Amino acid sequence: MTEHWNPASWRAKPAKHIPTDYPDQAELSRVETQLRKMPPLVFAGEARRLKGLLGDVAAGKAFLLQGGDCAESFKEFAADNIRDTFRLILQMAVVLTFAGGKPIVKVGRMAGQFGKPRSSPVETIGGVELPSYRGDNINGMDFTPESRTPDPQRLIQAYGQSSSTLNLLRAFAGGGYADLYNIHRWTLGFVNDSPQGARYRELSEKISEALTFMAAIGVTPETHPEMHRVEFFTSHEGLLLGYEEAMTRVDSTSGEWYDTSAHLLWIGERTRQLDGAHIEFFRGIRNPIGVKVGPTLEADELNRLIDVLNPKAEPGRLTLYGRFGHDKIADRLPALLRATQGRSVVWAIDPMHGNTLTAANGYKTRPFDRILSEVKAFVDICAAEGTHPGGVHLEMTGQNVTECLGGARALTEGDLADRYHTHCDPRLNGEQALELAFLVAERLKDDRVDPSERMAQAI
Ligand code: PEP
Ligand code: CO
Repeated sequence: MTEHWNPASWRAKPAKHIPTDYPDQAELSRVETQLRKMPPLVFAGEARRLKGLLGDVAAGKAFLLQGGDCAESFKEFAADNIRDTFRLILQMAVVLTFAGGKPIVKVGRMAGQFGKPRSSPVETIGGVELPSYRGDNINGMDFTPESRTPDPQRLIQAYGQSSSTLNLLRAFAGGGYADLYNIHRWTLGFVNDSPQGARYRELSEKISEALTFMAAIGVTPETHPEMHRVEFFTSHEGLLLGYEEAMTRVDSTSGEWYDTSAHLLWIGERTRQLDGAHIEFFRGIRNPIGVKVGPTLEADELNRLIDVLNPKAEPGRLTLYGRFGHDKIADRLPALLRATQGRSVVWAIDPMHGNTLTAANGYKTRPFDRILSEVKAFVDICAAEGTHPGGVHLEMTGQNVTECLGGARALTEGDLADRYHTHCDPRLNGEQALELAFLVAERLKDDRVDPSERMAQAI
């Protein structure tokens, strides 16, 4: 691992889940050359800023909220969808800030989250076998040979969609929409008449009162322009290394390499082999990065991954996303937390991927109770081990979909067919995600030690 790194050095390593069946490899190369000339989507300075904020998370001073689609799609690409997920994240952040008393670092799983590792390379329907759907930047979802054939032009379309999505997100974050004075306007229509909507209204009343008080003492958006905007970052799984390589550029201020396709990139559970292509690529980029940590990872292997990915124990460089399953987390997490003490990593929880099941009617789904149970267990285990529960990573959408079971409206297996739109894994809908935020907030509030109490304990 000490060999020289360059953006293409991953090509000499074994790569998993990167398609090799493009019919025209020369066209793929041409597209990658074209992408190399495209403007960066994010700047190195922004990625460094996020790394700094995640350093605060690692130090227990902030909390990470990361969420969005499992897979963005060309079909669901619409301004309203982007706005709805964005405002849901704002609402959840308000709920979590109020409870935890800590700043929330807001990261969308958006503007580039396309390619998917699949459990099987092929899919069989009615005796016909075709390549699996792998994400809109690789092939199409329609079950036809043409659609399932990888097409390099999809990378260009994904770049374009990421660019427009990010443009809109930047406008929402900085253009006044995210102004705290707009807090009442962030509720999604279908959430308005739910118990979550009522709870949120109560909370926003309190915040409005606080804002009125602050204005009275002279603290207004005019005197403090930062009240008008929020910092919002983007992230995706860095799966298609050809695309990521093409987007990787030298930062002129530091002379270091940054992957400019997103602020934060992570390595999935299925591509984190120590001698593999993904670890090789990620070790050289200077963005904040993440790794998914599933139930089979042992502590010594995790430490070897940290040695490679964050050798200088730089705070905020590396986020570990546990994704064990509600029934496995108690068995797996404590040893990993102990093994990583003092290594400046952020520990966060992805309560989605270990809790997926197939309903009797064939839909892939996730029970809300199990998702919540894994988050609660995460907070409890972190408290017992003296580690900061750094954040949550969720698959969710602002849309009123019916993909996960349960929640306050008690969605059943029979409801799944109503509005099941995901292109990959089932997402929490806006109401379920807000409910989860309230329940996690309660747990964080219990955990919040009064500073005077902490002083008393120290004396
Ligand atoms: C994902 O985040 O959609 C994903 C594929 O997760 P994992 O790598 O943990 O399976
Ligand atoms: Co997923």
